[in-house]
Amino acid sequence: MSKLITINMNRKPIYDIMIENDFSQLAEKLKTLGYEGVKATIVTDKLVGPIYADTIKDAVKDVFSDVFVYAFDAGEQNKNMDTVQAILADMVENKMNRHDLVIALGGGVVGDVAGFCASIFMRGIDVIQIPTSLLAQVDSSIGGKTGVDFLQYKNMVGAFKMPKLVYINTNTLSTLDDRQFYAGMGEVLKYGLIMDASFYEWLLSKLYEIHDKDAATLEEMIEHCCICKQRIVERDPEEKGDRALLNFGHTIGHAIEKYKNLTLMHGECVALGCVAAAFISWKKEKLSMEEYYEIRDMFVPFNLPISIDDIDDEEIMKLIKSDKKTDQNGIKFILLKKVGKAYIDKTLTDEEILNGIKEIHFVEDGE
Ligand SMILES: NC(=O)c1ccc[n+]([C@@H]2O[C@H](COP(=O)([O-])OP(=O)(O)OC[C@H]3O[C@@H](n4cnc5c(N)ncnc54)[C@H](O)[C@@H]3O)[C@@H](O)[C@H]2O)c1
Ligand SMILES: [Zn+2]
Repeated sequence: MSKLITINMNRKPIYDIMIENDFSQLAEKLKTLGYEGVKATIVTDKLVGPIYADTIKDAVKDVFSDVFVYAFDAGEQNKNMDTVQAILADMVENKMNRHDLVIALGGGVVGDVAGFCASIFMRGIDVIQIPTSLLAQVDSSIGGKTGVDFLQYKNMVGAFKMPKLVYINTNTLSTLDDRQFYAGMGEVLKYGLIMDASFYEWLLSKLYEIHDKDAATLEEMIEHCCICKQRIVERDPEEKGDRALLNFGHTIGHAIEKYKNLTLMHGECVALGCVAAAFISWKKEKLSMEEYYEIRDMFVPFNLPISIDDIDDEEIMKLIKSDKKTDQNGIKFILLKKVGKAYIDKTLTDEEILNGIKEIHFVEDGE
């Protein structure tokens, strides 16, 4: 069953999100968008490329005059300027021009890198997103944020670049490994917590179907997340206000991700950050104790961590403070008023944040 969501800005349609279970609708849509006869570069990584690049090439063979594939080594450590430079060089070599198209095929890393390349190549050419990880399908492919890590900072260099299309084939999730899939569930649960209590309840009620990767359930879940993200990005496309709510769990999460040198997955760190933020929300008397424990324990059946050993609380705190989102006005922290309602808090003291970190820091009892 196909689903279509249209992202509007100032009441004008900007791009469609198509949710499908194969690639059969892609060529027709690209023709409708006016790409017949242009050249395209599929930017992907070396894990996703071998599985899907040929299928896409085949699906669009009647659309483009030429299709090139550029695959870089998979992983966050390659989300950097060297990769950008190599992709741009390849595009120059292939004589791509201003009317041509970049196709981002992969997870969030590919989407961010390819989108950024499209935003700067010849002052900007079109890009479409074909997200293949759960995280990319529910979050990163939508909303037009692109960029790479720079110096020691995550997403330090980038641009807003709206895609012309987001084409989700939910069947690509069948080749994603389980740990990646559940990491994506961290972001899915986040939507429920920050903006939709009934979605949160629905997710809990569909636990078995989600574990089974039941097609209809995954499709409904992905569609719902896309609608949540749509609501946020339409209201605040450039993160001047509400869009920051999506960073729930990310302040402490990013610091742990960095401390652990990327050995934990982004979604896993987000889950830990959500638990810490929910704990702080309880201590600020926004959530009840029962609500806090319920939120915390909900991550467990989705194979996500709720505590971590082997961290240095003070070091995590330092990393939070060195994050670029921290300005002189204090750390912009996202807390919960209740399940389904988040808010921005800039008044937290270091001690309150530290207590949140201590809550998730598992210390084994021993002599
Ligand atoms: N732009 C945004 O708004 C935004 C939002 C959230 C996250 N992000 C970014 O997204 C990135 C994380 O995304 P991610 O979790 O998708 O990571 P990722 O792109 O590294 O993908 C995870 C792994 O799964 C593999 N993979 C992806 N799809 C697959 C498939 N269908 N079959 C087999 N393997 C597959 C990839 O090769 C990779 O090894 C981070 O860099 C984060 O900063 C961006
Ligand atoms: Zn995230």
